Amino acid sequence: MKVELTKLSQTGSVLVAFAFNSKKGKDERLKLNHASLATRLKNAIDGKELSSKAQDCALFRDIDFEGFRHVLVVGLGDNLDHETLRQAAATVHGNLKSVKANKATVLLDGVLTDKRHAPRQIQGFVEGLILTDYNFDELKSKKKDNGNDKKANSEMVVNLVSSLATDAGVKKSFHEGMVLAESVNFSRRLGDLPGNLMTPTILANTVVEAVKGTGIKATVWDKARIKKEKMGGLLGVSMGSDQEPRFIILEYKGAPASKKPIAFVGKGLTFDCGGISIKPSAAMEEMKYDMCGGANVIGATLAIAKLKMKVNVICVVPATENLVNGSATKPGDVHTARNGKTFEVNNTDAEGRLILADALCYASEQEPQVIFDAATLTGAIVMALGNTHTGYFTRNAALKKKVEEAAEASGEWVWNMPLTDFHVKDMKGTYADLSNMSSGKGAGSATAAAFLEQFVGEGIPWAHFDIAGTAWSVGNRLPYCPKKGASGAMIRTFVELAKQY
Ligand code: BES
Ligand code: ZN
Ligand code: ZN
Repeated sequence: MKVELTKLSQTGSVLVAFAFNSKKGKDERLKLNHASLATRLKNAIDGKELSSKAQDCALFRDIDFEGFRHVLVVGLGDNLDHETLRQAAATVHGNLKSVKANKATVLLDGVLTDKRHAPRQIQGFVEGLILTDYNFDELKSKKKDNGNDKKANSEMVVNLVSSLATDAGVKKSFHEGMVLAESVNFSRRLGDLPGNLMTPTILANTVVEAVKGTGIKATVWDKARIKKEKMGGLLGVSMGSDQEPRFIILEYKGAPASKKPIAFVGKGLTFDCGGISIKPSAAMEEMKYDMCGGANVIGATLAIAKLKMKVNVICVVPATENLVNGSATKPGDVHTARNGKTFEVNNTDAEGRLILADALCYASEQEPQVIFDAATLTGAIVMALGNTHTGYFTRNAALKKKVEEAAEASGEWVWNMPLTDFHVKDMKGTYADLSNMSSGKGAGSATAAAFLEQFVGEGIPWAHFDIAGTAWSVGNRLPYCPKKGASGAMIRTFVELAKQY
């Protein structure tokens, strides 16, 4: 799909207009953002066939209106914010696909409210289009309609028309939305690839390839180096697998060297069977997504570099499988993390925190301004928040404010979770400094966060994002996300956060 932004309307096979509620006193009426189309569709409007409700739409096939074969009218309700437009774009995409449109014109005048709000609105819309265009079908042998659909999709041109098309702020946000959505789609693919095709080595190689030409420097440590670097958490988890672990380091310098970097850390479990504390078989295949934290911080770093943001970034991803061979870590085994702290592995399925421990130590050593980590860390967060809100943990009030603002501006949902000394106490070990399992009942996500906190350098502001609920299969809520598949959660929020440093 190709999306263009122009001032003047171009011809195409489909014209897309919008219907929303216009309030005149008590009288609520449907308003269409195209006067002569409103006249043409008067009967449909009067007969209430046309709805202005958000997510409703009406497709008028073969009506030959002003050179367009079909006309699509999409409802926006009474809130024209960026999230409404992101979701409306998904409706537009679905309809264009259904009529196999090769070119469509989308009228945004009257929808982009004013110069102040238009940038975010256009960004939401273009993100919605490109996010919905993602389709993970590369593993299907291209036959039947599957191949044709893909062709039609990739060749579709969508022309967004607005009198604000040449406004500098609008143009910048249009470009930002494009880069962000493409980065999200890049990360989604990493998550969607199955464990055998997305091993730690393949992940590292793919990332090395992807950063070419972006100004990002990529360094990859192999097993021998990981051992030499005293990363006992990452090494311990990888022992049960024949695949070598990798420690991926990305560095982007968009600001003078004197400016401290912001650090991203992501869990890169390319497959988690639980280890000796093996998981039940049902839905175990979903554990290929256990590297979405890693994939998503990589996507955020790529986007920051492509947007040439004036910030320094360090992004680290410990990558391994959690499997179960004769050398696997056993319940009760004790390993030593990079900062010298020892931990008992009382449940080998609580492995994410172990590999993140070393990564957080390494990130802290770079003396960053702030650390953000993302991980599909606990089943407990899915129980607590479901799949709309990402649970995040920080004890830093200023950072909390930044996170809330960034999520709001990005159209992502976050929820602040508690992290206290009670949770830290629950993670004390019997034989070692720490246990990877809580001695208390419940609060599994908070105790996991408390474990991570032990590896964050003193005084460094840090926020941990548990994306276990939001990293995949959120399409039931968000129409621009796959019903089954990786979502790219928090990439947009992380890029927005980077603007604040
Ligand atoms: N990768 C899982 C967490 C997970 C569960 C993600 C469900 C997505 C959906 C993680 O490694 C794990 O297994 N955590 C355990 C920790 C427990 C053993 C303390 C969990 O949450 O059950
Ligand atoms: Zn696990
Ligand atoms: Zn895991």
